[in-house]
Amino acid sequence: MTIDIRSTGAPKQKPDDAAPLSFGVYTTDHMLVMEWTREQGWGQPSVIPYGDLSLDPAALTLHYGQAVFDGFKAFATADGGAALFRPDAYMARLNQSARRLDMPELPVGTTLAAVERFVDLERGWIPTRPDSALYLRPTMIATEPHIGVKSSDRFLFFVIASPVGAYYAEGFSAVKIKVEDEFVRAAPGGLGAAKTPANYAASLLAGRRAKSEGYAQVLWLDAVERRWVEEVGSMNIFFRIAGKVITPPLTGSILPGVTRQCVIEMLAADGVAVQERRIDIEEVISAHEDGMLQEVFGSGTAAVISSVGLLHYRGKDYPIGDGTGGELASKLFRQITGIQYGRDEDRFGWLAKVPRVE
Ligand code: COI
Repeated sequence: MTIDIRSTGAPKQKPDDAAPLSFGVYTTDHMLVMEWTREQGWGQPSVIPYGDLSLDPAALTLHYGQAVFDGFKAFATADGGAALFRPDAYMARLNQSARRLDMPELPVGTTLAAVERFVDLERGWIPTRPDSALYLRPTMIATEPHIGVKSSDRFLFFVIASPVGAYYAEGFSAVKIKVEDEFVRAAPGGLGAAKTPANYAASLLAGRRAKSEGYAQVLWLDAVERRWVEEVGSMNIFFRIAGKVITPPLTGSILPGVTRQCVIEMLAADGVAVQERRIDIEEVISAHEDGMLQEVFGSGTAAVISSVGLLHYRGKDYPIGDGTGGELASKLFRQITGIQYGRDEDRFGWLAKVPRVE
């Protein structure tokens, strides 16, 4: 594989590493691009200066939403290097999303080698302040111009990068979540397990309403009975009830979170078996009423591990513990970030060092 590299002649001002970083505000100097056509398959990857895309207004992605993306992180590690966290797992999920949207799968080896080269070039953008990282956003869009509904014969894959801190305005403090019982995010057989813009579009109105009422996000219930807990859009959800850790199963309408999987593996290594099972919102509420709801937390790439300090359901607030977050969530946060920043042993083999190219 050859990667064509065209460096920018006008590097941007980097954010001040001494100040807290908001999520998603900055982008780096370059981006990785690679094109696919039905006749030729994937072309060679190139790294080019970050800039606008040129897209026909009839491009299928704009009209019919044929697009997938993912999000993973590069960390500045304690040894002075840089590492990607579980890039293979994210690539597998991106390809799974692509299959669901009838899009071509990416060649994993070539793509990850190109991502490593791209991150190596952007090394100076990996923030070093605590709890920050370089967030990578691989994205694939349908570029063929066509007004009829069809799968595109051309796609553009690109990766952009953004130095980020905590996802929520609350930082890594506990967030307040509203249980959404009007709108739904995804139905059985739909797109819920794919990382595709449609799922996020479906969440915007409910999310903005919840924000205006003082909640960080909504917790989705299932589309059929409005009863079974699904996920929080930006994270998967876990409950600790009477000493048992429970998370909804991957039945096709929620995102198969990589951080969710890390939580399950980290807990298993500590002898705690997570119950992956359907959980009724009424079970959560009655556990709260019985004093058995010990903790609620979310897991996500952007959100890492975020405690939920309060649930709101049908006009009533249910504070969890003292509202500041639970001990299991803080332990998991310490464990996963310890590995990500190379402070602790990478006992699960999750880190992929980014090689330096001379
Ligand atoms: C991620 O956690 O990577 C996501 O894509 C969630 C998004 C809300 C930023």
